[in-house]
Amino acid sequence: MLEQLEELHTQALNELGKIDNIAELESWRVCYLGKKKGLPQILRSLSTLSLEERKRVGAKANEIKKSLELILTEKKRGLEEASVISLVDREKLDVTLPGRPIPTGRLHPITQTLEEICDVFKNMGFQVVEGPDVEWDYYNFEALNIPQHHPARDMFATLWIDSEVGEKSRLLRTHTSPMQIRIMEQSRPPIRVIVPGRTYRYEATDATHESMFYQVEGLAVDENITLANLKSTLFEFCHYLFGEETKVRFRCDYFPFVEPGVEVAIQCLSCHGTGCRLCAYTGWIEILGAGMVHSDVLKRVGIDPEIYTGFAFGLGVERIPMLRYGIDEIRLFYSNDLRFLKQF
Ligand code: PHE
Repeated sequence: MLEQLEELHTQALNELGKIDNIAELESWRVCYLGKKKGLPQILRSLSTLSLEERKRVGAKANEIKKSLELILTEKKRGLEEASVISLVDREKLDVTLPGRPIPTGRLHPITQTLEEICDVFKNMGFQVVEGPDVEWDYYNFEALNIPQHHPARDMFATLWIDSEVGEKSRLLRTHTSPMQIRIMEQSRPPIRVIVPGRTYRYEATDATHESMFYQVEGLAVDENITLANLKSTLFEFCHYLFGEETKVRFRCDYFPFVEPGVEVAIQCLSCHGTGCRLCAYTGWIEILGAGMVHSDVLKRVGIDPEIYTGFAFGLGVERIPMLRYGIDEIRLFYSNDLRFLKQF
């Protein structure tokens, strides 16, 4: 019996030497010190021995049990320490490593341009408002002096939503001018607003035409607003955006909802007026239509044209970055090619 105990002791110590993790240590404990197996079991079987033997074997077994318990506690502490050390080692932060770059997004070149345009006009005291892309015939045409069958409807190749004709017919707005009416219906002078937004035309696309494009509408209505105010506002804007030296041209034009009507062009930034593909060999690039709000338009929204006058303008947005950066293809803006977009 004593021999058996000694054997168990050496076996236990041998096995313990090979253990290198807490889980194995636990099964070792169950095997040698657990209630059902190992030493306690041997101690339980002592009853079959003589008193003399029982004393000797019992004492020896207890001695071994104590020594194993002691060594178990030590081993356990050792393993725990080692695991903490290896954890710290694994999760150590090397502050000298170069950081991982965080890829940042960027604003679309058209969004950047819109923000810039809005900032210029905000500094001049204009408020920014937005309106619906889907519009009534009434706002897009009728209220702007373009009744059914008016030849000016041909200026705007329209994408219709409803098939029946009339004021209550819906369409995708062909310009931002319908917002002139909505604003004047809802507020009284003094009015100074700009309206950035999408507009749509049913046209074949090419290098300078898209069926969806952006405009910024401007409207100022007050007492004593004159064509001179319109001119100075737009010259100021063009000089701010394209540089003080840029030549700006102001010429007569026709739009049913303004009288007189004008078109504003700037000298081509690409060829400086000598003529190139970008300016269709004219030396000038038209960037906006404008004029004094027609008295019939004012009357229709209940503003007395004897007291108030106003100016309005509609600016094409895509042309601005095209001119500034020498982009000769409008479709690049909306084809989602990151190689293009990442340059801005
Ligand atoms: N809405 C016109 C267009 O799209 C531009 C314009 C706006 C002209 C305001 C005069 C006044 O062509």
